[in-house]
Amino acid sequence: MIITFATQKGGAGKTTLAIAFANYLTEISSRKIKVFDFDFQKSFFNKWKEDEESELPKIYDVEVIGDDDEEQPLADLENIIELKESEEIYLFDLAGTLDQKYSDILIYSDFIIIPFEYSDVSVKSTLVFKNLLGLLESQAERIFIRSKYDKSYKYRNQPEMDKELSKYGLLLENPVFKRNILQSIDTRKLNYEQKNAVKKPFNEIIEYINKELKITI
Ligand SMILES: Nc1ncnc2c1ncn2[C@@H]1O[C@H](COP(=O)(O)OP(=O)(O)O)[C@@H](O)[C@H]1O
Ligand SMILES: [Mg+2]
Repeated sequence: MIITFATQKGGAGKTTLAIAFANYLTEISSRKIKVFDFDFQKSFFNKWKEDEESELPKIYDVEVIGDDDEEQPLADLENIIELKESEEIYLFDLAGTLDQKYSDILIYSDFIIIPFEYSDVSVKSTLVFKNLLGLLESQAERIFIRSKYDKSYKYRNQPEMDKELSKYGLLLENPVFKRNILQSIDTRKLNYEQKNAVKKPFNEIIEYINKELKITI
């Protein structure tokens, strides 16, 4: 199974959510998890490397893709299909740039998790990204998640935005609130507060995946 965190907007929370989700899944699922860092900035991979200093055990492997011009393990469509059909869970953390080389991942992912914020810039780029998935005829189920959500801030176009996104995928009921504790996330374990900050939306995602694929992850 392929679950991809993507949207073209940088800073939307893709990597933070991808790390938190990988850690969370490791705790609740017996399936093997593997992460592919597709972002040239390698934030997920670098964090994971840094965490080798940690006393806690490594819980998954992270591989960088698209780092150089060498032949890429995922260049071949057959490889993507193999990952898709596997019992293991492959998590992809994508870059913000819209690039040809991501298109196969966007097309063949089972689920694409799209973090967004309620600001004009984020809303615009989320709509562009949603349209791109449509143009690519992506097979993936789209899951929209409110990221860095601030309860006290009222975005004037929120009802329209919610309505629009709901036409194209699942808009999670529970947001991930803006929380400082999520800025110090590591790739080994979620602490109690971090887990609390993500568990409601993540449980919604997992429930949806199980229902869509008629499985238990
Ligand atoms: N829920 C949150 N609350 C507070 N800060 C967050 C939250 N999610 C992400 N951040 C911070 O926002 C910045 C961008 O997040 P990141 O996950 O790197 O985004 P992306 O991968 O989409 O570029 C990082 O500094 C991160 O720590
Ligand atoms: Mg990132």
